[in-house]
Amino acid sequence: MTSAISILLILALAIACFVLIILLLRKQPSRQMSLMESKAEHSAREVGDFYNEQTNNFLKVYGEVIQAFRTTDVKKLLDYQIETIGFEKGQRVLDAGCGVCGPARYFAKNSGVHVEAITISEDQVEKSRKYITEEGLEGKVNVTHGDYHQLEKYYESDSFDVVYFLESFGHASNHEQVINSAWGMLKPGGKLYIKDLFIKEAAIQSLSDDIQREVKNINDAYRYNIADLYEVLKLVRKKGYILSSVKTIDFPLEDFENLTISNDFQELTGINQIENLEEYVFPVDFFEITCIKPWNALEYGNSRYFLQNLFYMQMHNRKQEEL
Ligand SMILES: C[S@@+](CC[C@H](N)C(=O)[O-])C[C@H]1O[C@@H](n2cnc3c(N)ncnc32)[C@H](O)[C@@H]1O
Repeated sequence: MTSAISILLILALAIACFVLIILLLRKQPSRQMSLMESKAEHSAREVGDFYNEQTNNFLKVYGEVIQAFRTTDVKKLLDYQIETIGFEKGQRVLDAGCGVCGPARYFAKNSGVHVEAITISEDQVEKSRKYITEEGLEGKVNVTHGDYHQLEKYYESDSFDVVYFLESFGHASNHEQVINSAWGMLKPGGKLYIKDLFIKEAAIQSLSDDIQREVKNINDAYRYNIADLYEVLKLVRKKGYILSSVKTIDFPLEDFENLTISNDFQELTGINQIENLEEYVFPVDFFEITCIKPWNALEYGNSRYFLQNLFYMQMHNRKQEEL
């Protein structure tokens, strides 16, 4: 009798444990699901349609430089970018997600680079070509309609000194593909530069849901796919880039123009209006990331990036005596 009760008790305990394990296992995926759901991904075509519809409105509010994190005098932003990216006269550079070539035309005129520019919006290509002709920049800025996930479809490999993304990278439906595609375009020693918005870290746990919600709103409204900074850093390192710098974009406060939290564009278009600015949780941070494609050649083995270069060469099965 006592042993029958013990068996029953053990059985009941085993069932309880089993149910608990099932409940715990079910709980985990549902948390992951809610994170996944908040990540809207939009195809390049959808992004192109969005810009075909909205570029006239962007021009009204932003002018020819379609970047939210900016200076009141937009030339200061562009001069800052010339300096930070480190353009040198005669370089061949690729503007991935070029808008109406506002930055590309300025860079060509003021730093002497040759710019190949690409956008997914047909309307932006048309407008860019008009501006390029008006400003006599044919041969210095050239614009192509296409998808920056597949740069190899439009340009020769290893042919650019710089590939840059100015608030365009985060539209990508596949960040890794874009990073890898840019790699293929760069000459050894070439530079990848990304300026963009990245999901904010919640300083206190209770803000986390608000951040997720606002990230989803921005993604839906602007056909964006706001990146996670750590994920991007992981992807560039995985590809083999030398991570040269990650930093907050550094303007003096008096130069800063806040189109990121203003409602100017939103009022004009009705898109994603912020109803209560006082309670609004700003869900992103802006950063700039600079990476270098290693030289992968013995004569550069003693450069200051020696260790990364060594690793890259080993990865590609160089023999010990070659190193
Ligand atoms: C916010 S605007 C920035 C424009 C420009 N960089 C500037 O500073 O004025 C984003 C740009 O990224 C482009 N874009 C987004 N997804 C793209 C894709 N898959 N391929 C090429 N361009 C893309 C859009 O067409 C648009 O020109």
